[in-house]
Amino acid sequence: MGIQFDAITRIFTLQTRHTTYRMQVDERGRLLHLYYGRRIGTGDLAAMYPAANHGFSPDYYPCRRDHAASPDVLPQEYTVGNMGDFRLCCLWVRDEQGAAGADFLYRDHRIAPGKYALDGLPAAHDEDAEAETLCIFLRDEPTGLELELLYAVFADQDIITRAARLRNTGTGALWLDKTASVCLDLPFGSWELIHFHGRHAMERQMQRLPLGDAVTTVASTRGASSHHHNPFVILCEPDATEDAGLCYGVMPVYSGSHRTDVEVDQNGLTRLVTGIQDQGFCWKLRSGDTFTAPEVILCCTAGGLGELSRRYHRFLRGNVCRGKFRFARRPVLINNWEATYFDFDADAIVSIAQKAADLGVEMLVLDDGWFGKRDDDNSGLGDWYVNQRKLPGGLDPLIGRIKDLGLRFGLWVEPEMISEDSDLYRAHPDWALTLPGRDPAMGRNQLVLDLGRPEVADYLLGRLTDLLERHDIDYIKWDMNRNMSDVYSRALPPDRQGETAHRYMLGVYRLLETLTTRFPDVLFEGCAGGGGRFDAGMLCYFPQIWCSDDTDAVERLDIQYGTSFGYPVSAMGAHVSACPNHQTGRTTPLWTRAVVAMAGTFGYELDPHRLSAEECGEVRRQIETFKKYYDVIHNGAYYRLSDPARQRRWAGWQFVTETESLVSLVLTRPEANARPLHLCLRGLDENALYRVQALEVHVCQATPELAGSRASWTGAVYSGSTLLYAGLTLPPLAGDWPCAQLHLIRLLPGGH
Ligand code: GLA
Repeated sequence: MGIQFDAITRIFTLQTRHTTYRMQVDERGRLLHLYYGRRIGTGDLAAMYPAANHGFSPDYYPCRRDHAASPDVLPQEYTVGNMGDFRLCCLWVRDEQGAAGADFLYRDHRIAPGKYALDGLPAAHDEDAEAETLCIFLRDEPTGLELELLYAVFADQDIITRAARLRNTGTGALWLDKTASVCLDLPFGSWELIHFHGRHAMERQMQRLPLGDAVTTVASTRGASSHHHNPFVILCEPDATEDAGLCYGVMPVYSGSHRTDVEVDQNGLTRLVTGIQDQGFCWKLRSGDTFTAPEVILCCTAGGLGELSRRYHRFLRGNVCRGKFRFARRPVLINNWEATYFDFDADAIVSIAQKAADLGVEMLVLDDGWFGKRDDDNSGLGDWYVNQRKLPGGLDPLIGRIKDLGLRFGLWVEPEMISEDSDLYRAHPDWALTLPGRDPAMGRNQLVLDLGRPEVADYLLGRLTDLLERHDIDYIKWDMNRNMSDVYSRALPPDRQGETAHRYMLGVYRLLETLTTRFPDVLFEGCAGGGGRFDAGMLCYFPQIWCSDDTDAVERLDIQYGTSFGYPVSAMGAHVSACPNHQTGRTTPLWTRAVVAMAGTFGYELDPHRLSAEECGEVRRQIETFKKYYDVIHNGAYYRLSDPARQRRWAGWQFVTETESLVSLVLTRPEANARPLHLCLRGLDENALYRVQALEVHVCQATPELAGSRASWTGAVYSGSTLLYAGLTLPPLAGDWPCAQLHLIRLLPGGH
């Protein structure tokens, strides 16, 4: 059993393969957090948290004389503001008198096989029936507010998911000013915070910070999880490395504005609180209403950052992504965006498809500009009808021509947005989020639809269902190209305006839930100006998400490095684009662009007519290479080999399965009088033998020295321990961003 309850001590223990999570209902009925970390046995953990009597830390009322317990000192499981715990709180709730507070006391609990479900919110699933659920029921008597804390234990994966549900069983209304999902108290130890910040076209830059004495916040107020602060953080021991050290991952399954705060209290306890952003949020909970705070995926491992990442990769792919595409090989696609932008017609698209098909591409994706009046980004969003000038006769003739080439067909949409210059806006100006009496702030000359309104979501559902039912579409790229401002819903009364942003997310989720269920054979790729909504919530509907609008291979090294901490390569949309690169102006070797895109879903985003005959040959070989290595890339375990904060000379990563391994390396800084290019591999079986099946080195100009060394590599046999601990020195690489791929085959016992 992964979940145990001791009725005498009232201790809950959640046991995974390598970790233990423990809570206790104290004698007053409050739920204390006792421990989360490496797997432990029995012992009185409550004794670790003595009745510290601190000045200015209040006592629970019955303890006012003996100071036996203070809410401000004890580790807590879910905290409420204004109740004597001055640290970060999860919940700030007011009643009709304006009185804030709730004191939740234990009522009951339930342990059951399987995983809980959350109404209206994305959450991890348990298709392989491995989870167990614990629900703890607590109640605040004066308000009648009930709190249900939900835990699902995936013991084999060392994953625990959590969520919280609030139900107003009282007679009056309540207002939730802040409703976080999870509080994680680490009473002892010192921790560093790893978070992933960035900007448009430079998402998820990894930063590691010591926790100081100030509260640290990782948050978005943009109505989207954002390019700027990804909703995923790690707390790790200061000496944690890729291979060792205790690490905790905290990943909200939410795509809207979020907030994670970390505070170190006066006793050295580290508290992390995460959930929906509270700025601008206020939810009115009428009598009988329920509010659910989004799920959070927790993982703890003593195996270092690499192990933490691999646990998230496996869990997100197997238990967050859904449907047939979670494990399926995705088609190698070509997207016309950087080839044509808005300037295309049917012939131009077919001609791209024709050339791409000849190179081995499997799907053509028609990007922005095929609908409404859409020759630039100033108009047309909302009018999801074919632009007959560009595509005479509609989508079907075009799709027919693409399919005749043997390709699948994909289409771009941006349903959540509306252009002022659109028929939809002219008919329904009140469907856009704008403030009464003010000009709205514009982003990409478009406004955000009020998706919390059922009629808006229904309109989109109708249009998209129509598109997918009437046309033979295999793939949808679902984009979202501005952040939310002027948040005000014309459909809500004044005292419910604070619900608008979250209702929007619920509307998006409902729409995606319906569409992905209705069209299980359509592959959906998420996008938000690149990776502006790259989060676990979106991964419940989109098994892949466009990583970034920055397609420069060298910039992508850092973007994909940061992304890899939480997200699997099967989720990372990555394409080879033209050079000079459209975002940075940089020219990188075509092979390097491919090797970087192979650490993702792999595809092309260029005009194939502009490739030389030699480059066409390269593209053919790239696609063959990706297909050859597909299994080890997408099904293998992912190991980071380099850390850009420590050395900028090269970037490397490695995929490993039981039978093979693929090492990829890009030289980022050539050196004069170069030092040896030495690396130790990871993830191999130290007792096995590996044969070098291929060493592909791609440089601008191969030196004779390089050609010779390449030949001598192939067929060489090494023990796993040699590759792990002595390492390898690669042939010298020089020039602008050359790359290498080293393919190893594990030999069967007997050396075959
Ligand atoms: C966003 C996407 C791009 C492209 C454009 C189209 O920026 O990230 O890939 O689809 O929109 O307008």
